[in-house]
Amino acid sequence: MKKSILKSEALTKYILETNVYPREHPQLKELREATLNKYTDWRRIMGVPADEGQLISMLLKIMNAKKTLEIGVFTGYSLLATALALPDDGKVIAIDPDREAYEVGLPFIRKAGVENKIHYIQSGGMIILNNLLSNERQEGEFDFAFVDADKENYINYHELLLKLVKVGGIIAYDNTLWFGSVAPSEHEEAEDTYRDALRKLNSFLASDSRIDPSLVSIGDGLTLCRRLR
Ligand SMILES: C[S@@+](CC[C@H](N)C(=O)[O-])C[C@H]1O[C@@H](n2cnc3c(N)ncnc32)[C@H](O)[C@@H]1O
Repeated sequence: MKKSILKSEALTKYILETNVYPREHPQLKELREATLNKYTDWRRIMGVPADEGQLISMLLKIMNAKKTLEIGVFTGYSLLATALALPDDGKVIAIDPDREAYEVGLPFIRKAGVENKIHYIQSGGMIILNNLLSNERQEGEFDFAFVDADKENYINYHELLLKLVKVGGIIAYDNTLWFGSVAPSEHEEAEDTYRDALRKLNSFLASDSRIDPSLVSIGDGLTLCRRLR
């Protein structure tokens, strides 16, 4: 077991160093490094890893996504990857109560020349999604939504996002493997609210007939849900 974990860490490093970092946009690299410098505690690992950012970017381009939502911005790695992938007239509504973290990444977003595609809202996600839904014209308006915020609310975000994202669009949930802890283990901690919320979400999504799900084993787990109806 230990050997296979080491092997997978070595493989991740290999993929990043040979395939991902050489093609990483200069301002994504600068933003990633500024985040590591600023946060010396656990928060330094909150941003999506570069290979996941690359996958999100690829997906947005394949879909020709124009209008997207992001819940959980932090310093903006996934947000900058999104804004860079959107066309010139694309827009991403980005929601996070932590404006201070967003300001760490903002100089790099500006330097990359994509701030005009971002509408940042300092708030919790539920209130803003409910506000958007109070305007009927926003229903089915979004091509893509990326959720990387308060895990215990993912299941509530899901119901609202199924109205806001168009049929055929994608809702993506980050951290659905929660450091591997969603898999049952003899040594598991009894109390882990996020693990339990993510297990519940994973089971729910697996049987939700309104979507086509795919749990991608990248980063900390990324579940892609294509809206069917
Ligand atoms: C894992 S980080 C997001 C990382 C980001 N996607 C990136 O690539 O850097 C989680 C973020 O969710 C935010 N958050 C927590 N509760 C939230 C809520 N109710 N609504 C929106 N964002 C929330 C936190 O402030 C934090 O910045």
